[in-house]
Amino acid sequence: ASKKIAVLVGSLRKESFTRRVAHSLIELAPAGLALSIVELRDLPLYNEDDEPDPPPAAYAAFRDAIRGADGILFCTPEYNRSVPGCLKNAIDVGSRPYGKAVFADKPTAIASVSPGALGGFGANHHLRQMLPFLNMPTMPAPEAYIGGVASKYDGATLTDESTRAFFQKFMAAFGFWVVQHAG
Ligand code: FNR
Repeated sequence: ASKKIAVLVGSLRKESFTRRVAHSLIELAPAGLALSIVELRDLPLYNEDDEPDPPPAAYAAFRDAIRGADGILFCTPEYNRSVPGCLKNAIDVGSRPYGKAVFADKPTAIASVSPGALGGFGANHHLRQMLPFLNMPTMPAPEAYIGGVASKYDGATLTDESTRAFFQKFMAAFGFWVVQHAG
């Protein structure tokens, strides 16, 4: 059976480059992966006062979506050299209640995206600080820092052939990683 992958996109805007990259990665994934984006826009800011009884419906729906996945693909822009708040908030929501983090043991990979030259390095590595704490086996390589992203797309279409080849290689490696580390 194919492995279900939840894709988390750290941008809420309609024309997001990061969302375009997420769609490309989904399109170029190997046959053994079934990927779908789990939307973050309706998640309220995490507030411990809302736990446990009952948590907001949006928290429960998000946690169920992550629980049902065999792996996670993070696609993140960089805000102020870190992860945008919507993605940090989603990680916080999924990490609680204490001892019941839905992310635990899910194999994961990170693609960071920027119109700038550094390819979201800061956001990528701030994720790499968080994920071990959540006990998520995180693919070390290939690393994906997608810089200069605006020149790689014509509208929604990925026009840069070397990027397409890299995305294919990255997703093939992730497919292997998920099989190796699936719980
Ligand atoms: C940015 N941007 C940005 N880019 C970057 O490479 N490093 C950074 O630290 C930041 N910081 C930053 C902060 C805030 C608040 C915003 C709104 C933007 C620019 C960012 O890369 C650009 O807006 C991207 O297009 C955002 O990604 P999406 O929405 O296109 O996926």
